[in-house]
Amino acid sequence: MMKRKKILALLKTGTPLENLLIKGWVRTKRDSKNFSFIEVNDGSCLKNMQIVVDESLPDYSDLKKLTTGSAVAVWGSLVPSQGGGQKWEVQATKMEIISLAPETFPLQKKRHTDEYLRTIAHLRPRTNKYGAIFRIRSELSWAIHQFFRDRGFRYIHTPVITGSDCEGAGELFRVTTLNPSMPMASNEKIDFSKDFFGKESNLTVSGQLSAEMFALSLGDVYTFGPTFRAENSNTSRHVAEFWMIEPEMAFCDLVGNMDLGEAFIKHLVGFIIENCSEDIDLFARFVDKTLMKTLENIISSEFLRIPYKEAIDILLGSKESFEYALAYGSDLQSEHERYLTEKHFKKPIIVYDYPKTIKPFYMRLNDDDETVGAMDILVPRIGELIGGSQREERLDVLEKRMAESGLSKENYWWYIDSRRYGTVPHSGFGLGFERMLMLVTGVSNIRDVIPFPRTPGNIDF
Ligand code: 4AD
Ligand code: MG
Repeated sequence: MMKRKKILALLKTGTPLENLLIKGWVRTKRDSKNFSFIEVNDGSCLKNMQIVVDESLPDYSDLKKLTTGSAVAVWGSLVPSQGGGQKWEVQATKMEIISLAPETFPLQKKRHTDEYLRTIAHLRPRTNKYGAIFRIRSELSWAIHQFFRDRGFRYIHTPVITGSDCEGAGELFRVTTLNPSMPMASNEKIDFSKDFFGKESNLTVSGQLSAEMFALSLGDVYTFGPTFRAENSNTSRHVAEFWMIEPEMAFCDLVGNMDLGEAFIKHLVGFIIENCSEDIDLFARFVDKTLMKTLENIISSEFLRIPYKEAIDILLGSKESFEYALAYGSDLQSEHERYLTEKHFKKPIIVYDYPKTIKPFYMRLNDDDETVGAMDILVPRIGELIGGSQREERLDVLEKRMAESGLSKENYWWYIDSRRYGTVPHSGFGLGFERMLMLVTGVSNIRDVIPFPRTPGNIDF
């Protein structure tokens, strides 16, 4: 049995090769007088392999029936290409049809809109653009692990099902085994003691609270996993299921946290430029002509750091007409974030020291008693890419903040406990993986950088 070779590996070899086997899917076919050219893609890279099929081949008449989307196996030799457009081609000595795709295969050679491709999300990875996105997504995942491993961070698998609401926003998907066909009377309270875990449970919105416990033991840790938010917002930057990377560092203050966030983003952008150039080039040419400039600007700029108050002053003083009105104490909307980073500073910025009223209970209270040690990293085209903070490590202050936020001490007893035994200053942040992918590809809708997006009303695939 001959082992198949991947097109990526073949295109990297600099010398002709005999006796090889490739397998893949037909992208296009052109018939000439005495032979056919078949473009085959096997997903290992953006480029197709051109296959030259001579009419002297047995079953040549069958091969002429090949359609776009069909799967084939090709035996032959890698030879320098006669025509322009590619360096190498495969001269077939034998070819087999693994399966024929009927003419109804939706991805015929024309361009399709992203909106249409979302309706066939099970097939869209077979297009050039989506193949490239998901190869980049895979590379970016590796780059993340590499970044943290090089810095001595340990990778922690935090739970997906939890009994807490880390962000306190109440945007929870409930996890239950209670019988849905026995609805309660409308005034009756659900008895969660009868539920699987004996109390109300949900899909996690963040792995942070668990990660903190491990930072207070292993030092520097991170999680990288799926998180869930039942936010009913239909925007181009929100999905109900997304992946988040959350480092957590013991003995680290807000400045150290900002330093790590800045280094992290720069590392990931640099890694993708260096390691995914073929795929990125497709986006720079066809999706966002300013992509390379944006990415180089991110790598070479020092991220400007400004307190929230200053950000509000700039926004209030700007001539821009915003949809959402703004005052001290309001949360920054995406339009404000984008104005600051795209128009005003024209580079990534870090906004810190937000009012405690708009941030979760776990953020460290500043001496002014008004603001907390929060920091958000805002980047052009996306707005908020990272949200993080120094954590409240003082037991009494934490308990007070939890009471103010209406959180039950009983439910979070273990979290509070960590402030009792060897508590230390510590910090961390969360980076939205899909938003990072939007940044490096220039793709403007978050639904297009995740394999099967979950948004309100959409759970197909
Ligand atoms: O700012 P967030 O809500 O922070 C946290 O969850 C903290 N517990 C993280 C931490 O300190 N360990 O979310 C962090 C990031 C955001 O900056 C954004 O990039 C992304 O997660 N994000 C979303 N991405 C896609 N869809 C959504 N609905 C998102 N909500 C947040
Ligand atoms: Mg946030």
